[in-house]
Amino acid sequence: MIVLFICKTNLTFADPKLKLGLEVYNDKAQCGVCHTLKAANSTGDIGPNLDQLKPSMAKILYAVKNGIGVMQSWEGVLTEEEIEAVAYYVFNTTNK
Ligand code: HEC
Repeated sequence: MIVLFICKTNLTFADPKLKLGLEVYNDKAQCGVCHTLKAANSTGDIGPNLDQLKPSMAKILYAVKNGIGVMQSWEGVLTEEEIEAVAYYVFNTTNK
């Protein structure tokens, strides 16, 4: 069981940046409270559905760094590395 879990984790998160991005998305910033993103199992509907929006990398980075509408700026809340990882995660799970 444990072995299976580890294998599965490695398969899903071959890329450590994606893993950090998912952690930020789900835990640290809780983007999913407001956003729907199938890959992260989130169904928030306060902000746009990210699966449908398919935002560009620049758009995600801009929104996360500067805030947009009721969405706060995450600068100073998340580290630069976390901001990049969450943007990378959202971009790679929506723009396929
Ligand atoms: C409190 C709710 C809330 C949280 C938490 C939140 N957002 Fe948003 N987000 C919004 C809303 C609302 C909008 C639409 C703002 C507008 O267009 O006026 C938005 C817009 C966006 C956009 C689209 C920007 C654009 O240019 O259209 C992206 C991408 C995005 N959010 C990503 C994220 C990510 C990544 C996180 C986590 C770091 C996050 N959001 C956390 C509410 C939230």
